[in-house]
Amino acid sequence: MNEEQLMGTARALVATGKGILAADESTGTITRRLNSVGVEASEANRRAYRDMLLTTPGAEAFISGVILYDETLRQESLGGLPFRQLLAQRGIIPGIKVDLGARALAGFAGEQITEGLDGLRERLAAYAGLGARFAKWRAVISIAEGLPTAFGIEANAHALARYAALCQEADLVPIVEPEVLMDGNNTIARCEAVTTAVLEAVFDALYRHRVMLEGMLLKPNMVIAGLKCPVQSPVDEVARATVRTLLRTVPAAVPGIVFLSGGQSPELATAHLNAMNRLGPAPWELSFSYGRALQQPALQAWAGDARQVPAAQALYLKRARLNSAARSGDYTCAME
Ligand code: 13P
Repeated sequence: MNEEQLMGTARALVATGKGILAADESTGTITRRLNSVGVEASEANRRAYRDMLLTTPGAEAFISGVILYDETLRQESLGGLPFRQLLAQRGIIPGIKVDLGARALAGFAGEQITEGLDGLRERLAAYAGLGARFAKWRAVISIAEGLPTAFGIEANAHALARYAALCQEADLVPIVEPEVLMDGNNTIARCEAVTTAVLEAVFDALYRHRVMLEGMLLKPNMVIAGLKCPVQSPVDEVARATVRTLLRTVPAAVPGIVFLSGGQSPELATAHLNAMNRLGPAPWELSFSYGRALQQPALQAWAGDARQVPAAQALYLKRARLNSAARSGDYTCAME
């Protein structure tokens, strides 16, 4: 384990004014996204879509790293250069999703466990050889009546910690992503209680697995009411509840917290990040690792039409720029 390299990469991913693009949708997920705009999810179309995003001129001013899916890490851009080299040439750090997805947790109805630990050491070595410098593993926690169970939380925390330790052994910065889903009907208070329990368990497991906190990033959900909850909290309340929860659970040694957007609209995800950064200095950088909130407007504008690439790229660049502004609390709705 090269501690200096890990710490340097982690800090570079949360450099001032920059955040991460999550473009690591598995084949199943990207198929749904492309189909949603009437595009067939062929390999050629997946490549053309990722090419549109990753060749956006000027993105490197706001984007520190991109999380790729296995296919994209190995693929060539339309210009012929492998995507991973195209990014690295522009100073954007290539990363890789290494989990193999969440499946039903046997014996625990309604809960999921993320798979992919078997053979992970060898896969990480191969990814490092291809130029990846960081990795991502997503655990999924659902809120429902009686859920999550303490065991469901423990099992996912254990897998995240095993993954993180293996990443650091391979000199890849682990992005540790315990996602409490926001699609239920729960209140914001319930989300806060569940997120607190999850983060407590995750950092306990990371400690026991001897993960170096200075060489990792946390990718959590925000503390927010479920999308089906009739009472939705104002932006400032989400910001205060989220930062309060993180202050209680995330050690100051962690260099950065990079939020997922989780189904929030692009504007709301930016406003929430901005409000958190306006609350004043925090022990860690508060940044973004958005998928949908960075991509959605561009995906809709592109919709498989090569003539729309410049318009789509402009929309992606705009979201990247506004989220960059939100990193210092300088975003306003007027900038939309
Ligand atoms: P969303 O921002 O769309 O939630 O995606 C982020 C991510 O990488 C989920 O694993």
